[in-house]
Amino acid sequence: SLGQNYNIKGKMSSEPVNVNDFKELARLKLPKMYYDFYAGGAEDEHTLRENIQAFCRIMIRPRVLVDVSQIDMSTTILGHRISAPILVAPTAGHKLAFHEGELATARAAAAAKTIMILSYSSTCSIEEVASSCNAVRFFQLYIFKRRDISALLVQRAERFGYKAIVLTADTPRLGRREADIKNKMIAPPMKNLEGLMSIDVNSDQGSKLETYANETLDASLSWEDIMWLRSTTSLPILIKGILTHEDATKAVEGGVDGIIVSNHGARQLDFAPATISVLEEVVHAVKGKIPVLLDGGVRRGTDVFKALALGAQAVLIGRPVLFGLAAKGEGGVRTVLEMLKNELEISMALSGCPCIKDITRSHVRTQHDKL
Ligand code: FNR
Repeated sequence: SLGQNYNIKGKMSSEPVNVNDFKELARLKLPKMYYDFYAGGAEDEHTLRENIQAFCRIMIRPRVLVDVSQIDMSTTILGHRISAPILVAPTAGHKLAFHEGELATARAAAAAKTIMILSYSSTCSIEEVASSCNAVRFFQLYIFKRRDISALLVQRAERFGYKAIVLTADTPRLGRREADIKNKMIAPPMKNLEGLMSIDVNSDQGSKLETYANETLDASLSWEDIMWLRSTTSLPILIKGILTHEDATKAVEGGVDGIIVSNHGARQLDFAPATISVLEEVVHAVKGKIPVLLDGGVRRGTDVFKALALGAQAVLIGRPVLFGLAAKGEGGVRTVLEMLKNELEISMALSGCPCIKDITRSHVRTQHDKL
């Protein structure tokens, strides 16, 4: 019957059919403090809303009468073949969502034949994740005031088979996430730093999370330090957090191997632009010399399609993975990845693009395009 999908309180009881359903399931399941930590953004959350809304202002220009009986979503990132251009973004604290934490996420990424980027602030260690899954893994890094600790993490990642270092560059300090401040959210346990750092997080200044980050991260980091990072590893280095052509050019000149256009899921600077709105600017500056990826607000297969049309090689998803994990553990993450892949597949079929390389700039219309 019609009422079947809702229980007596009007709560959703049907199976989720899209990423937003998973968000609602996660909200119903998680303690408010954790849900807010995952879902929230900086200050008034303008950028958080804009990350989603900017996708809505881009229209797709479908072509018809193209043979789309076979759709191939597979692609290659830094030489690694993946089943679709949708990667798992680095996010902190997966054990807050599900007891197996990042191990469950990594297995789901492996099942989806995609790349998982492990956050340095994971609740399972670099080594644990490496031994529990055969997904291609990248490792996300911050540079600490204690450089030796950053270098040690890079060495551990390299030794345990991670294939690239993702340096997050948008966090000289932690953005003001006011929900976390109100909830007195504390930093999730950081397995990789066990025994390496002892920081006093008992402060009344802002959220404890903020205190922790601000005491450990090196706010003096600059472009020269990329050379230092390069000297610590032979792995490719991607810079995450670029939003302008100026910085994209510096990244190329600095010899990095890839760029991730990101505003940290709108958790750092409120009023940073929506990532999809600056993607083309970055792509033009990079001139095809290195891959450009994007994250922030990707919730539909059509979002992936739009990002590829505007020049991204792939996208990353952050919150959808956390919501899947909170709602249904490893299976939830698998389903989220499958849903987005299925949606991308149908977007490609309905737009006349049988392969990833068939998705071109002329398949989308932005507000800046002439009609
Ligand atoms: C993040 N993000 C993040 N980025 C990073 O480089 N290191 C980290 O430890 C974290 N931690 C983290 C925690 C949580 C709860 C969220 C939601 C995000 C940012 C993440 O990598 C990515 O940029 C965004 O999540 C992408 O936006 P969407 O997909 O969440 O909209």
